[in-house]
Amino acid sequence: MAHNSHSFFNLEIISAREKADIGDHAAKGLEKKPSVDAIFKAHFTQKSTTDSALLTSNKSGETAVKTLTKLVLGMMGQLRPGPVRGKSTESIALPPPQKAGGLPLMEALLKRCSSREFAPDALPLQLLSDLLWAAYGVNRPDGGRTAPSALNAQEIDVYVALSEGAYWYDARRQALDLMVKQDLRRITGYQDFVDEAPLDLVYVADHRRMAMVPVTQRESYASAAAGAIAQNVYLFSASAGLSTVIRAWIDRAAIADALELSHDQQVLLSQTVGFPQRGAGD
Ligand SMILES: Cc1cc2nc3c(=O)[nH]c(=O)nc-3n(C[C@H](O)[C@H](O)[C@H](O)COP(=O)(O)O)c2cc1C
Repeated sequence: MAHNSHSFFNLEIISAREKADIGDHAAKGLEKKPSVDAIFKAHFTQKSTTDSALLTSNKSGETAVKTLTKLVLGMMGQLRPGPVRGKSTESIALPPPQKAGGLPLMEALLKRCSSREFAPDALPLQLLSDLLWAAYGVNRPDGGRTAPSALNAQEIDVYVALSEGAYWYDARRQALDLMVKQDLRRITGYQDFVDEAPLDLVYVADHRRMAMVPVTQRESYASAAAGAIAQNVYLFSASAGLSTVIRAWIDRAAIADALELSHDQQVLLSQTVGFPQRGAGD
């Protein structure tokens, strides 16, 4: 079993502004000790549309129903993986990452944003390799990485949920190793788009690598490290014309079970990446 599924987030981190964002209906629930899931649901089902008129459109109605269905299944412990689509390979040797080019940093920062509409098309292997290297690859001969970690513990593992299986990113070999031969994408979050987007990343902290970090600091340090990786993914996505969104509204216990994680491994965040949906305004 993994760590408590709600240990990472509590109500204190939901700011007053976010509470206001949640809207009347959820705000009523808020007075009555809402669950973290209720807050995230209210927040992100509303946030995923940019125009409140869209909330009444068929598309957003379907989105809400799918998300609610997943939420109920999650509460019942019935959120199940899908069968693999495509060929699952034990190990995928990624092509050497292209470490030159891309948008100038300031332009990538200008374009960085969250998007929640994805085309289902798989990312070509070269793009996947470049993305993962940007996220958390080895960028120095001494094994240093593209994102920092306290005391260089490198405690974050990046899991990669693809339609053909769930893989662990081995940054030293620039390879993906098959962990679970199932399509775990739909397990990686309540929001409906995670099911069909080509790639969901899951950031997992391995507490065994944080022996030098005071116990009380481990979760916050690991979360900061995962946040740095997530921002690398945001900037790479902005540069490469991909859509992405970091997600905390996830069922950590379900993900940990599906990935067969140990007691020492803690699911922190998930992040969806893919090509923008054709015709999407963002
Ligand atoms: C810690 C964290 C958790 C988040 N969780 C979710 C989530 O579960 N679902 C989602 O759609 N967006 C999530 N987001 C994305 C935010 O909603 C988004 O960053 C915010 O609305 C600002 O939009 P921007 O990223 O386009 O600037 C999260 C962001 C952060 C930093």
